[in-house]
Amino acid sequence: MTLQLRVYVPEHPLIKHWLAVARDASTPSVLFKSAMTELGRWLCYEATRNWLPTIETRVQTPLAECSATFVNPEAPIAIVPILRAGLVLLEGAQNILPIASIYHLGLVRDEQTLEPSCYLNKLPTQFKPQTRIIILEPMLATGGSVMLAMKELTSRGIDPTLVRIVSVVAAPPALRRLGEQFPSLNVYTAIIDEGLNSRGYIVPGLGDAGDRAFGT
Ligand code: URA
Repeated sequence: MTLQLRVYVPEHPLIKHWLAVARDASTPSVLFKSAMTELGRWLCYEATRNWLPTIETRVQTPLAECSATFVNPEAPIAIVPILRAGLVLLEGAQNILPIASIYHLGLVRDEQTLEPSCYLNKLPTQFKPQTRIIILEPMLATGGSVMLAMKELTSRGIDPTLVRIVSVVAAPPALRRLGEQFPSLNVYTAIIDEGLNSRGYIVPGLGDAGDRAFGT
């Protein structure tokens, strides 16, 4: 069986709404940040569907005993926000996964070559077996940052089938690169846009996600 990258674009009115707010150039920074938090929340909600390990047990309600399903607190979950822009999805992600470990990865891209380099790497040398990982990268443009993040994770023994990427806007060049190298990955995004401009920005996109969120 040949594997093919799976890209999910959830059909949810809240995701469409917050994407529209984020795209609008007249949205002020404070509201942009709220919109990205909401997108982080709803996209992670979708990304964790049928993915979080659960345990079946029984609980006593005030009236009777019944069967119950809990998220398995022993199953390791990690969130890897790619700084800076990944930080704006983190609050929403943490709201729904409060016990996940957070490992920051700071990548900056060279504006000439568009290739990223790493200035902060808080990934552990080794992850617990079967750790499920969500990478937060709002803009999948050239794919350089997310490819570097995947390289760092796989070099630590992480199986790509256990990784989900949460983005807000994805462009074909990044999806192509991911599909070629990591076809077993699952990507969740609010939209797939047409392409990139000569500076590597997604068009129509939403501009520089980090600058807009942090008012820089
Ligand atoms: N990073 C951004 O913030 N925006 C883009 O369009 C591409 C990369």
